[in-house]
Amino acid sequence: MPDFLEISEIAAKDLRLILENAKKAKLAQAGQPKGYMDAGLPLHDTVVALIFEKHSTRTRLSFDVGVRQMGGQSIVLSTADMHRSRGETIKDTALMLSRYVDLIMIRTFADEILREFVAHSTVPVINGLTDYSHPCQIMADVMTFEEKAGPINGKKVVWIGNGNNVCTSFLHAAGQFGFNFAFCGPKGLDPDKNAVAFAKAQGSEVTIKRDPFSAVVDADLIVTDAWVSMHEDAGEETLKQLHSFQVNSQLLSRAKDNVIFMHCLPAHREEEVTSEVLDGPNSVVLDEAENRLHVQKSIMKWCLRKL
Ligand code: CP
Repeated sequence: MPDFLEISEIAAKDLRLILENAKKAKLAQAGQPKGYMDAGLPLHDTVVALIFEKHSTRTRLSFDVGVRQMGGQSIVLSTADMHRSRGETIKDTALMLSRYVDLIMIRTFADEILREFVAHSTVPVINGLTDYSHPCQIMADVMTFEEKAGPINGKKVVWIGNGNNVCTSFLHAAGQFGFNFAFCGPKGLDPDKNAVAFAKAQGSEVTIKRDPFSAVVDADLIVTDAWVSMHEDAGEETLKQLHSFQVNSQLLSRAKDNVIFMHCLPAHREEEVTSEVLDGPNSVVLDEAENRLHVQKSIMKWCLRKL
């Protein structure tokens, strides 16, 4: 059964299948209590392990609630509580867990840890964020964009700030869903070169810009993220450079009136984004967070060949 590791590694038709199923499942849940069970209980015979080696609020809740809504059982594990923190190897952990559960979501540090885990797991694995990427988030973001503004194909996404792991997955999605992508941030924080090359090779237009006020002019979607990711330790100089890349009302006034603003959260208000923008009419951050639930349910079913 397939793993869900990177948007760039999954066939575009499967990514589309996952999104369309998520949209339908969301409609079927609309207006129901959060504990309302999905028709047919697709995960009724399934146990899912959710492993967190880093902090999480949204990923933890959305996966856990998603498993419950589909009739499955979830076990949430943090490294601090596992023998991983006392030196048990990734290989032994993956081999052992595969004897207990049918599907594993892992949030971890280096991409190499994820790959090592996958190499030894005998059940499908979902990437719940690494230092390199955050594919589940961007599937939810593409879904959110299409709910608000129609097909994302041919549209222009402008990323403001730090070219981090979330930015990497956005570039993968640009290639797979056919949208154009402009990165606008300080020179030292440019996005991953391989992700840029992937998007370009798939036919997306990718540009690197330094002036946010000109970058946002023709944007359909403006995205930013925390200046410092969980695995990073930015110096004072970097933070000083990033101050010119705050998403605020002045910046938004240069964009189209109906431009969409996204942030995967948690946000650092008045740093990378002002409250005025985050809570304003262009912001869809809560829809993004909600859609993590719907799209991840679909990803889990895809991994278990239940889609
Ligand atoms: N966006 C996101 O992944 O949120 P959490 O870190 O809270 O899971």
